[in-house]
Order: sequence, then structure tokens, then C-alpha cells
Amino acid sequence: MNYNLAVLPGDGIGPEIIEQAVKVLEATGKKFGHRFKLSYALVGAVAIDKTGNPLPDETLQLCKSSDAVLFGAIGDPKYDNDPKAKVRPEQGLLAMRKELGLYANIRPVSTYKALADKSPLKKELVEGVDLVMVRELTGGIYFGKPQGRSEDGKTAYDSCVYTRLEIERIVKLACEMAMKRRKKLMVVDKANVLATSRLWRETAQEVAKGFSSIEVEYMFVDNAAMQLIQNPGKFDVIVTENMFGDILSDEASVITGSMGLLPSASVGLHTSVYEPIHGSYPQAAGKNIANPLATILSVAMMFETSFGLLKEAAAIRHAVNKSVEESFCTEDINRKNPKSTSDVGEWIAKELLK
Ligand code: IPM
Ligand code: MG
Repeated sequence: MNYNLAVLPGDGIGPEIIEQAVKVLEATGKKFGHRFKLSYALVGAVAIDKTGNPLPDETLQLCKSSDAVLFGAIGDPKYDNDPKAKVRPEQGLLAMRKELGLYANIRPVSTYKALADKSPLKKELVEGVDLVMVRELTGGIYFGKPQGRSEDGKTAYDSCVYTRLEIERIVKLACEMAMKRRKKLMVVDKANVLATSRLWRETAQEVAKGFSSIEVEYMFVDNAAMQLIQNPGKFDVIVTENMFGDILSDEASVITGSMGLLPSASVGLHTSVYEPIHGSYPQAAGKNIANPLATILSVAMMFETSFGLLKEAAAIRHAVNKSVEESFCTEDINRKNPKSTSDVGEWIAKELLK
């Protein structure tokens, strides 16, 4: 088959890790007989530098007309410490999510036996952890209006807004995912305090009636944050709103031992976007030391989720597992004898072609 892909490397380590993911993509294509037309476009701080806009219209149009989007990372420290900056790289990512209607962010977290001692948690807690975080991505406090400052600048406000429809579609997606897994769903909210969370719980209870074989539980977000590190093995599918999902998915990501291993898919109304869950890691940019595995695994998610190519996805995961087992890895995993970003990419591409 032929596929049109939009490739958005973005900032920091984005271009380096994307380069490796593209090597793996091409190798998979070669092995299984697929062709990819790759169109590169600007997003984030590099896009602001060149065009003044973190999501230029050309980039958005390209995403809309592509079969899938492969995304690197965005963010630049020059904006992080300048709360007064009018335009920020992150606005590019948020605008892309909104414009493409990417209401579900799917972040699978599974552990590698070879890495059990890299986790900040005790080995016995980490072994066998296999969960999926389903984060609502286009609603809540990230997008609610009004948002801003009072005229005197001394008060600021954000609004958390959710509609029943927004909750229904994401909870339904999470239920469908649970059906294909261990049939357990944890709905995380703060229904003891927030009105939006009460609507979440009410709506989730209704959606759950249509999935009687799933065991559905409800948990307040503070408790969930605690249980994720106390007993991560108890979770199968977790569904939650945008901001809680942002925080909990970072927490869940380190359970595996390295954030550099976790891929994600953002799906919804238009083209899906695949990206590593880590950020632009500016300290490592240009040094050829960043872990490309999360981006490579995002390509596997793309094959599976957007194209239904399960064998291709499995082959990529198999090669990644092998690199981890043999510790052919970057410094976050192999401190003693680290391999470079490009070496890891090349190794996995070659492994695929064997
Ligand atoms: C993420 C990131 C983004 C978010 C930032 C970069 C806007 O942290 O994808 O989790 O908060 O959603
Ligand atoms: Mg985040």
C-alpha cells in the first residue's frame, strides 16, 4: 500500500528522534511492501522563528490531507521562563489537537523485564504492569473559556468546561479498548469537588451500562496518583479528563524505567497524530544521545491504529524489545556503554530487515 505521511519534527531533540523513526518506517515498508510519501512541515518554536505562527496554516492543511501525522516534540526554554510571551510553541500542539479533533490521547504503559531495575519503584511492583492511559485531549481547562486576566492584571482565571458528548465519546472509546484487554476500566475524576467531574461520573455510569462485561471502577484523582505508584499492576484502562490525564500519564510513564520508551496516539475526528510522550529535551538537542524508542514505537502504533497493519507493528515492537534486551540503548537505559540516537535507529532498522 501507499501512504501519505505528514512529518513534523518540531523542536529540541524532535528532528533527531524523527530521523530514526523514519529509518524504521522505511525499513518496515521495504520488508512488507509499503511505500510512504513523507512531507515535512514546521511546528512549535522553529515554526514561530520562521513564520511567527507555531502551527502555520500550511502545516495544518498538510496534516488534514495526510493519512497520519508523525510528530516529534515541541518546546523551547526561551519561552518557558517568559510567562509574558504572546506566542508559545505549545499553542501549536494545542491548536493541532483542536483543529484535527483529536479528542483521545492513548498512552500505553508496559514494562520490560530487562529494565525492571531502572524503575524508581520496587521490582516486584513493576513486573507485569500493563496499562493504558486514555486522556481526553480537546476539552477541560486546557480549552475552556473564559480564560485570561482581569483588567488590573491582578487576577487570572481558567475555566474547566465539559459537555456530555465530549465525555461520552472518550469513555466509549476507553470501554472499547478495555473490551479488547482485561476488561477493567478506571474512571478518574474529582467528583467530590468539581461539577465537571460529576458530569464525568454520571455520563461514565451511563456509558458503562452498554458494556456489562467490563468491571468499571471510579477513583478520585489524588487517590489515583497514589495508587499508580503503590500498586500500578491493578490498572488496565484508565480514562480521565485532559489535565488529570496530562499529570497522571507523566507519572505512569516513569514506572517503566524510562520516559524515553513511551509512545502515544492521538485519535479523533480527522487525521491521527503519533508522537513520543516525552518533550523536546532541549539539553540533549543536537548531541545524538536522546532515546528514539518512544518515537519508533509511535510508528508501530501508527501501523496498528491508522492502517490496521498488525504484523508490521509487531515486527517493530519485536525489534525494539530485542534492542532493550541486548541493551543496545541510549544513555537513559545503558549508562555504562551508551549507544547514540542514530546507532539505535540504525540497529533497529537493520534488525527489521533481517
Ligand atoms: C503533553 C504535553 C503537552 C500537554 C504540552 C506540551 C502542551 O505535556 O502532551 O502531555 O500539556 O498536553
Ligand atoms: Mg504532558
